[in-house]
Amino acid sequence: MKSPNVNTPAPPSRTAEKLAIHGGPKAVEKPQRDRWRSVRLLDTLPILNYVRIDKTTAVTGGECVRPFEQRYARLACSDYALAMNSGTATIHSALFAVGVGPGDEVILPTYTFNASAAAVRCCGANCVFCDIDLNTLNADPEDIERKITPRTKAILVVHIWGNPAKLDVIKRIAEKHSLPLIEDCSHAHGAEYLGKSVGAWGDIGCFSIQASKAVSGGECGIAVCSDPVLYDRMLALGHPFRIRVNQKAASFDLGNSVLGPKYRPHMFAIPLASGGLRRLPKLNRLRQRNWDILCEEMADTPGVRVPETLPDAVRGGFLKFVFVLEPELSCHRDEFLHAAVAEGVPLKPDLYSPLHKQNIFRQEGPLTAALLEAAKNDFGPPEHLPNMDIIEDRVIALPPLTKVPEKYLRECARGIKKVAHHFYAAGECA
Ligand SMILES: Cc1ncc(COP(=O)(O)O)c(C=O)c1O
Repeated sequence: MKSPNVNTPAPPSRTAEKLAIHGGPKAVEKPQRDRWRSVRLLDTLPILNYVRIDKTTAVTGGECVRPFEQRYARLACSDYALAMNSGTATIHSALFAVGVGPGDEVILPTYTFNASAAAVRCCGANCVFCDIDLNTLNADPEDIERKITPRTKAILVVHIWGNPAKLDVIKRIAEKHSLPLIEDCSHAHGAEYLGKSVGAWGDIGCFSIQASKAVSGGECGIAVCSDPVLYDRMLALGHPFRIRVNQKAASFDLGNSVLGPKYRPHMFAIPLASGGLRRLPKLNRLRQRNWDILCEEMADTPGVRVPETLPDAVRGGFLKFVFVLEPELSCHRDEFLHAAVAEGVPLKPDLYSPLHKQNIFRQEGPLTAALLEAAKNDFGPPEHLPNMDIIEDRVIALPPLTKVPEKYLRECARGIKKVAHHFYAAGECA
């Protein structure tokens, strides 16, 4: 790809439609606001009632948190669910519960949000990053297995952008090596693999319920599992007072004390998230339909690849609609975006940068402030993860369009197609 130069785009090619940046008509006639709301005013009514009675926290789970957890556990085909104040907290708790500690290794994909890796470091464990499968952008099972060492303590998979990873194969690998499997389902609420919900494949499934997610409590998270001991250990890390009344297996007794940071969710997040959970099937229906329309309209677009959904998978959550720009396009991603935005398409770059290249996650040892200074050290060239290298700086994203007119979706797809044709043809002419 050429280096970015968004101010001086290449002249129009002879074969492609005239781009909006070159004075051509815009592909998108009229910008649209997504009419889907992550939270609704109606969902705030219980909050007003709590304020009226001056109740602002549910220390022991209370009548508001536990029904939400039960509904979430059902959605994720699990016996238990534990709400927390963030998705990061759920991953930290899950890793703690399966026994990850200082000096251990946890294998996770390099292509994910940094919270997945930060949770590993919260346990004092070291991140071992695996490469991705180029087709799905999820963890490559073969590379997971290659990365297993005697120090490996757990495998953490992520269902990136709501697209389920190859869970049957990854689960087999985990079982073969007697390793616990944790699923980071933060992008994938309601997704399924082989007819079973994500989150139920691993020992523990972790969901962020932060504002941008398919179920939103503003800031919140929830972990699901079917093992009472693991549930109790998560309680023991971050749920003071609740530990005594909610323990399931009662294999230890801490009184009211806990071992770690307080991970209790804010009570006001729960009614918001409950509303989102009720509307999740509708959200997933709309997003799936819109994803299908975009993919149909973009079929045969040269140089733009839609990440594959595995035949046994159903996407859910759809945190973003992402596409990969192929090397045959004669442009850098920024040029592509500049041209597409001028067409009226609300495209953005995907900002996840490979975690295996970030010094902060290449450091080993206990999590102390000294690491902040040490992050400046020269760690030498990062490990070569060839598939990640191929897609780095080539992923583009539309927001998860939900309640927008079909015409708008088709226009957005045509805008992307038009820009792709331009840069494809320019590449052929060069
Ligand atoms: C893949 C992934 N894991 C974990 C998290 C952390 O969730 P939270 O922001 O709720 O802590 C996020 C948040 O965006 C995420 O995208």
